[in-house]
Amino acid sequence: MDKEFNKVLLIDDDVSLNKVLFFQISQMGFEVTTAFDGKTGTTEFKKKEFDIIITDLQLPDLKGMELVRLFRGINKRVIIIIITAFGTIDNAIEAVKIGADDYLTKPFGKETLRFVIEKAIRLRQLEQENLQLRGELFDKYDFNNIISKSSAMEDVLKLTGRVAESDATVLIQGESGTGKELVARAIHYNSPRKDKPLITVNCPSIPESLMESEIFGHVKGAFTGALKDRIGKFALANNGTIFLDEIGDLKEDLQARLLRVLQEKEFEKVGDSKLIKVDARVVAATNKNLEELVQVGKFREDLFYRLNVVTILIPPLRERKDDIPFLIDHFLKKHSKNNQYQIADEAFDIMLNHEWPGNVRELENTIERAIVISQDEQITPELLPSVHKKNTIEKAQPEENNLTLDEIEQRAINSALKKTGGNQTKAAELLGIPRHVLIYRMKKLGVIR
Ligand SMILES: Nc1ncnc2c1ncn2[C@@H]1O[C@H](COP(=O)(O)OP(=O)(O)OP(=O)(O)O)[C@@H](O)[C@H]1O
Ligand SMILES: [Mg+2]
Repeated sequence: MDKEFNKVLLIDDDVSLNKVLFFQISQMGFEVTTAFDGKTGTTEFKKKEFDIIITDLQLPDLKGMELVRLFRGINKRVIIIIITAFGTIDNAIEAVKIGADDYLTKPFGKETLRFVIEKAIRLRQLEQENLQLRGELFDKYDFNNIISKSSAMEDVLKLTGRVAESDATVLIQGESGTGKELVARAIHYNSPRKDKPLITVNCPSIPESLMESEIFGHVKGAFTGALKDRIGKFALANNGTIFLDEIGDLKEDLQARLLRVLQEKEFEKVGDSKLIKVDARVVAATNKNLEELVQVGKFREDLFYRLNVVTILIPPLRERKDDIPFLIDHFLKKHSKNNQYQIADEAFDIMLNHEWPGNVRELENTIERAIVISQDEQITPELLPSVHKKNTIEKAQPEENNLTLDEIEQRAINSALKKTGGNQTKAAELLGIPRHVLIYRMKKLGVIR
């Protein structure tokens, strides 16, 4: 039997039934304590932690209903199954309403008993898993998990925290990989709507023809292939938040429909004229410059102003390099089991100097990849993509303006050899050239004969 749900308290004044049940439940592998009246049952319940209570509703001293109330009041997690005689099902239903998990109608066989117990355990486990998942979800979108050491990012988070509390429409702008979705989620999970759904619409990933029905839903027969009614994402987000990701990609006609929902807070399903009221907080994100799109006529100006009540602008990573060391640390922890990885100084310098066109996502991928291919829990330069290293070598030569091309080349080669402890294969990789080319150049420059 499940170890988590092992201790059973059985309360029944019918002595022979009590004995039979004791025998059957013990046989299923549970540890059973018996009581023959409500008072003893209550005393036992207070003495020991039980996982499951199976109790008769008609007890000589206490009303079963009161017992259910009492047990549930003390322990939210305990499974309560009641036994009821045929003809008193109404009582059983009443008991379930006030907190019992299920009921058994007398007479019942051993298999029914087992089925009811197992079903109740499974349900409770699902509830617990659900709670745990939600806990993890909250952790994940806890502000503490958004690295913001640079003052630019600190400002972003302060603003995020403030708007989270309101119902204001938010537009998040930032290059690809800067953390727009992370901020959008943080807004929802730190808002008064956090217990309600967060529904994401990823504008570019949905084919244009399906977009309208995706957002607003449709009724059966609205178009060829609409075999059933469909609830749209706006309706699903009712009382919660709708996250419109990559809004810059939304087509003209949908921009008009979206504007209407934002203004009127109501919409119609595709193929239907019935108005549906909706209360959804809107958070939108884009890596495009919406103002420019407005100027060239690709994005409706009125919609832009509707969305742009509060704008959160996430700066690119290259403009907030103070975050890099902390992000590296964060991703090392996130992607390794016991955070045993060390980062070599050279690798660290390379990452600090890289321009990160793919922003935080690129940094995260770089770390994840390095962890996967590293063999000795050391993140060394060889584990980084070669494009990073090329940039660094170019940058590392500040006075190169006064040098000849040969001198620059020689410096780069020397520095690569120094970094790799004289290993030509690794040095060539660091320089982004094949090994035979490195050897050829070393010969030409007189580094080797
Ligand atoms: N400040 C941060 N702290 C910790 N992790 C971050 C931070 N910013 C981004 N990340 C992580 O980087 C990855 C990319 O972030 P996210 O998906 O939010 O970016 P995005 O701006 O929506 O990107 P895209 O434009 O590509 O959709 C995610 O795994 C996210 O958890
Ligand atoms: Mg995104």
